[in-house]
Amino acid sequence: MLTLNIKPGHKSVKAYYEAISSLSELGVSHEGAVSPAFASLLRHCANQFNQTLVEKYPLKTSNHDHILFIDGALVDAFNLPHGFWEAKDTSDNLDKEIKRKFDIGYPKNNILFQAPNRIIIWQDGQEVFDEDISKPELLIEGLKVFFEYEAPAFEQWQKAVEEFKLKVQELATGLLQLIERERKTNSLFIQAFNDLIQLCQETINPNISMQAVEEMLIQHLLTERIFRKVFNNSDFVERNVIAHEIEKVIAALTSQYFSRNDFLKPLDRFYVAIETTAATIDDFSQKQSFLNTVYEKFFQGFSVKIADTHGIVYTPQPIVKFIVKSVEHILQQEFGRSLSDEGVHIIDPFVGTGNFILWIMREIKRSRLPYKYASELHCNEVMLLPYYITSMNIEHEYYEVTGNYQPFEGICLVDTFDLSKVKQLSFFTKENTARVKRQQNTPIFVIVGNPPYNAGQVNENDNNKNRKYEEIDKRVSQTYARGSKATLLRKLNDPYVKAIRWASDRIGDEGIVAFVTNNSYIDGVTFDAMRKCLSQEFSEIHVLDLGGNVRENPKLSGTTHNVFGIQVGVSINFFIKKKKTDKPKQAKIYYSRLDEFWRKEQKYDFLNNKQHMGNIEWETIKADAKYNWLNTGMRTDFESFIPLGTKESKTSKEINVEAIFKLFSLGVATNRDEWVYDFRKDKLEKKIEHLINNYNLEVFRFSSNTEPVTIDDFVNDDPSYIKWTDRLKISLQKRQTITFDSSKIRLSMYRPFCKQVLYFDHLLNQRRYRQPVIFPDTLAEAENHIIIVPSFGSKQVSFFMAQLIPDLNFFAGSTPIQCFPFYTYSKDGNNRQENITDWALAQFQDHYHDNSISKLDIFHYIYAVLYHPQYSEKYAANLKRELPRTPFAPDFWEFAKAGKQLAGLHVNYEGQTEYPLTWLENKDAKVNYRVDRMTLSKDKTQIIYNDFLTLAGIPPEVFEYRLGNRSALDWIIDQYQVSTDKRSGIVKDPNKLDDPQYIIRLIGKVVTVSLETVKIINSFPELQ
Ligand SMILES: C[S@@+](CC[C@H](N)C(=O)[O-])C[C@H]1O[C@@H](n2cnc3c(N)ncnc32)[C@H](O)[C@@H]1O
Repeated sequence: MLTLNIKPGHKSVKAYYEAISSLSELGVSHEGAVSPAFASLLRHCANQFNQTLVEKYPLKTSNHDHILFIDGALVDAFNLPHGFWEAKDTSDNLDKEIKRKFDIGYPKNNILFQAPNRIIIWQDGQEVFDEDISKPELLIEGLKVFFEYEAPAFEQWQKAVEEFKLKVQELATGLLQLIERERKTNSLFIQAFNDLIQLCQETINPNISMQAVEEMLIQHLLTERIFRKVFNNSDFVERNVIAHEIEKVIAALTSQYFSRNDFLKPLDRFYVAIETTAATIDDFSQKQSFLNTVYEKFFQGFSVKIADTHGIVYTPQPIVKFIVKSVEHILQQEFGRSLSDEGVHIIDPFVGTGNFILWIMREIKRSRLPYKYASELHCNEVMLLPYYITSMNIEHEYYEVTGNYQPFEGICLVDTFDLSKVKQLSFFTKENTARVKRQQNTPIFVIVGNPPYNAGQVNENDNNKNRKYEEIDKRVSQTYARGSKATLLRKLNDPYVKAIRWASDRIGDEGIVAFVTNNSYIDGVTFDAMRKCLSQEFSEIHVLDLGGNVRENPKLSGTTHNVFGIQVGVSINFFIKKKKTDKPKQAKIYYSRLDEFWRKEQKYDFLNNKQHMGNIEWETIKADAKYNWLNTGMRTDFESFIPLGTKESKTSKEINVEAIFKLFSLGVATNRDEWVYDFRKDKLEKKIEHLINNYNLEVFRFSSNTEPVTIDDFVNDDPSYIKWTDRLKISLQKRQTITFDSSKIRLSMYRPFCKQVLYFDHLLNQRRYRQPVIFPDTLAEAENHIIIVPSFGSKQVSFFMAQLIPDLNFFAGSTPIQCFPFYTYSKDGNNRQENITDWALAQFQDHYHDNSISKLDIFHYIYAVLYHPQYSEKYAANLKRELPRTPFAPDFWEFAKAGKQLAGLHVNYEGQTEYPLTWLENKDAKVNYRVDRMTLSKDKTQIIYNDFLTLAGIPPEVFEYRLGNRSALDWIIDQYQVSTDKRSGIVKDPNKLDDPQYIIRLIGKVVTVSLETVKIINSFPELQ
């Protein structure tokens, strides 16, 4: 049992007594005066129990005839109350007041009545605590009694659920073993199982894997048993149209056993606790929260990949409630209608556990519910387990309200994105197909929900790609991708984007789409055309930004600040579409943002308190010409500068385009850095030969395979054997073998001040972009230069110049880099061309009236401008959204000269003189120059190189030179360390055998580079 841990000296306790004494000094003694201090004390304690204090908590009286608003309730993650708090003022007669409260229906299980100097607690119908709390010790004792309380049946149930949570994964693995055994020996089952796979491929997902179908059976067995035993609902499988079909396969599975229970016997030990305690508890809502636990824990523990691609996460109640109440508000205000009205069809296309539909049912007038339930509530789910859970939840909610059990026919087991297809004849079973058809023919007015979001798998070995959908993908590219200025549109593959597209098309001329989604579309560069399209298609858009993007703001914690406990930012979005006649040309856009640093509980409280979007203070947004909605800090003069490169100029057939550079390119994306990069050439050769050998063996194995199997199911996905990419899988399917070619080993610029050898190959690198025409061979490395800039979207804007092939993530993090080369070539290294356009040269020569300016001078000039602090600070917001543009500085030559100096320092950093650092040698250690992991002393004046050596005397100005989120020196410390890649086990070792002191010298040189760079930056002339 959890115990409360709070000391009398704790600041929240002190604050409470301070509030009492300051108020009595002022002579104030009414109820509202000290309760804020007590509320914050409760909040502090609640935190330890993972509970939230909800103030003005609405509670239905036991005979349901009215609602009480209790001063506060402590609720858990499922919104179940664990205790109640009622604040009273000193002048009240507390005992009399308590009696009055009980008379009107206040609960007697764990309720705390608090007057400034007294606490009375009732538990299980009896008074258990009544003390004067003038002394903090008794206050704390009371709080302990209150917080540590667990209702007897509830306590056991909670324990059983907790235990079950831990066992779900083991349980599912046990079921899988049973199924796999039968698949080898039970011919009846083998046939039924193969038929099921075929059915699923035809009707759910053409690429569905064997594993996914096995998991479906596990989901069925798991829920079926829970429904039967925990919910006493043994008819569920007969009544549910899908369960009925799956049961046929289950019957085959268990055909060689005396009974199903007999088959499941090995799993009994996992279920016993939950089943016996379930018998003692009747409160459905407690059992319901258990179903939600099963939903999340099953997927998170057992089907991690599905949890990821399908966005399996339960939507917190305050979000659901807020969205549902807001939809009702919008319907009334904008359309003069209501959720209860006939003709307002509502769908949750990604229903999960059914949360949104449940809250909608609670919002609908009870008299209207039978009609709405039978005809106008709809939902879809693609996974079997949530499909069952939702059916069960919705049917039970209906039963609770009406006293009738009525199967819910508005639910379909279907992939919502498949509904864009012009025709698909069958959807799993006859009844399900009929339901889908019915839904397709229904005019939908309201779409609500929490679509999955996930931009795509990070690692091909995981075999968990987002599915491709011909129709909806085409719609996204015709609308949200068309006209985008962004060069990388991968993020538009995210299912939440498809969901918004699908919903916008589905509502037709009029209606509301209310989704909680990833918030990246609000200001992401990739989403410019999507924002444009949304503002053209809708009449009004309201975005409530809940923040929580941990990657953008590393001070945030996903678990603490994000409403879903995840890493990506979240927003609640209302898209409102009116009939053409009432629709403005451009949507009115409204935005509101919660404090980034609020904990998630504060965000829930905010939503609970506001109730619906009508109570939010909205800021009107005016999109700029580039469809930026959030344009704080953007400067319009940036537009008048000359672009370094644009998407149009790059793709244009013309050579002499209106940009400084004709061609620019992303760095190399290998998607297998640990395999294709190394500090040492001999080690890289070995790794590549090993990788190629393993791959060729896979080709051989695939050529000899006769079983029908998908490529994902076929490949050996052990990451220490091969690192797959989709391209490599395609070449495997084409049975292409690979031959090692040592001439493909090239020196590359992996990170700032960190060169590594790279196997530069079109198959073993995922994308080389235009690097083969920038650095076709080593001769090009000797003469060509590139300016490296972060592709937009980066927090910190930094630049670098290099003479080698750069890596895509040169500045690390998730922002790719673009590079602008001075020369380009044909792939064979011939046909060298200057990449700065004649147009740009003419612009510069005209502007400065100086025909002596050359293209190389412009190249250096630009590099200096990019390094100018006035430029990177003033235009930071613009640089996050688009590639750099350059202004004309008053003095061209000052900048060209400074740029040339910077270029020399950065490109040739290894050729700089070493800064004289002091060697502090440890007398007790052996002389040793090997680096394992260097560290910086706290005061940043020393680098602890290894046990033997410390380099002292680092001047503080060194740290002023920063690239991305690190100083130049920090890059050295970060990159030159021995590390092991977790998945493949490949070890990276920066130590050079033939030059053991290379890293020591490099440190001295980079100190020089940093100091010189800072000096040049500090003596820059004014930019404008
Ligand atoms: C984020 S969850 C929704 C959670 C739900 N609001 C709740 O509180 O339980 C998304 C759900 O959509 C389902 N899903 C994902 N992609 C789908 C698709 N294309 N069609 C139908 N359902 C889908 C997932 O299986 C998952 O259960």
